[in-house]
Amino acid sequence: MRLSVIGCGYLGAVHAAAMVSIGHEVVGVDVDEGKIESLSRGEAPFFEPGLPEILTEAIATGRLRFTTDIAEAAHAEVHFVAVGTPQQKDGSAADLTYVDAAVDALLPHLTAGAVVAGKSTVPVGTAATLAERVATAGATLVWNPEFLREGFAVKDTIDPDRLVVGVPFHDGSATAEGERAADMLREVYHPSVAQGTPFIVTDHATAELVKVAANAFLATKISFINAMAEIAEVTGADVTTLADAIGHDVRIGRRFLGAGIGFGGGCLPKDIRAFSARAEELGRGESVAFLREVDAINMRRRDRAVDLVVAALGGSVFKKNVTVLGAAFKPFSDDTRDSPALDVAVRLFGLGAWVTITDPEAIPNARALHPQLNYVDDRDEALRSADAVIVVTEWDQYRRELSPEHAGSLVNRRVIIDGRNCLDAAAWRADGWAYYGMGRP
Ligand code: UDX
Repeated sequence: MRLSVIGCGYLGAVHAAAMVSIGHEVVGVDVDEGKIESLSRGEAPFFEPGLPEILTEAIATGRLRFTTDIAEAAHAEVHFVAVGTPQQKDGSAADLTYVDAAVDALLPHLTAGAVVAGKSTVPVGTAATLAERVATAGATLVWNPEFLREGFAVKDTIDPDRLVVGVPFHDGSATAEGERAADMLREVYHPSVAQGTPFIVTDHATAELVKVAANAFLATKISFINAMAEIAEVTGADVTTLADAIGHDVRIGRRFLGAGIGFGGGCLPKDIRAFSARAEELGRGESVAFLREVDAINMRRRDRAVDLVVAALGGSVFKKNVTVLGAAFKPFSDDTRDSPALDVAVRLFGLGAWVTITDPEAIPNARALHPQLNYVDDRDEALRSADAVIVVTEWDQYRRELSPEHAGSLVNRRVIIDGRNCLDAAAWRADGWAYYGMGRP
């Protein structure tokens, strides 16, 4: 099929390349010329494992091109809208400027019978408004939320665990136009559909809500275990053992029960805030009031990590060398948006510590946000002369490939704070380190 992808960021760039790899012809559109130039050369403008490979292959087929000119998308049968919906600068709601602009720009080029498939995460009710505008061109709007995880985006796009398509409904079932649009999406995702991936056709509002509900649940799960970490901290219990024990219950499950400095990134934090704001607008703020607690627990974990460093250094970090291992919000990503790792580093810097920060991929993004910090590419160089080391992103380079003995030969003092509970506490202690975990004795 002929597809267009409007917005070529973390979501759109991967979607464009992945759609070519399953047989389609794709034009990717973005207003950022630099991004388009780099993508056209087959270079990913951000770090995502596997993306450079599928991008290069896709361009070589001749079925993928990138442009800043949205008119070149006119011939597409399905247009995916994959632009960002960041948090508003002066509030917690989602900023829909880019979604509105993308639809406005697309409207004059839409042909009758085309499908516009929104992938961006939006407040429930957005699709209904956009659908009216899209209908003026004789096209159909569907909402097709995206559940990809950064770091696994290629796999999650080519082989998703479910597909959700919100189509126009009337009296509780899809309209004829909605059925037709759903069939076109089935054709787009034909390999997944053929192998039996759940394909859920629903109304616009449900599809929009599925996405925010999924992220709200994941955020709640992480904050739940972090709340247990807070209780563990005052009782001498060990939250990692607790997570293992409750995780054996299949109704609970061990995944996303990793206590530590909490969640960050371009999705979870802003999505739960936007969900709360939208619920307030709908007069149902109390239904998701718990999300404010989820957010508050999450932010407190950053305080806790900083407090641990301060306590480990005898009550002050002023003029002490603190090495921060990690800047990305999670491993396998260079994303530093709302990164708890970077925030911890900035807070330590604010307390007067001499902070040295390293990360295998995220230094350029981190430096752009916080140029005041001292960035060092080489892990071992970053560790040299540290009075305390804090692990804030669980990269293999810190978790598996750094031995307590080797690290001990570089630092000034053997003090380690494990902000992700990712190290073998016993092994570090056996080597003479003072080890501090999150929610662990
Ligand atoms: C998330 C959702 O998982 C994905 O489905 C959605 O499409 C976008 O938002 P992503 O932001 O890539 O994906 O990251 P995710 O793997 O969910 O991790 C989010 C944050 O939670 C990270 O900062 C991570 O370190 C943290 N986390 C995760 C924990 O603190 N503990 C855990 O147990 C798991």
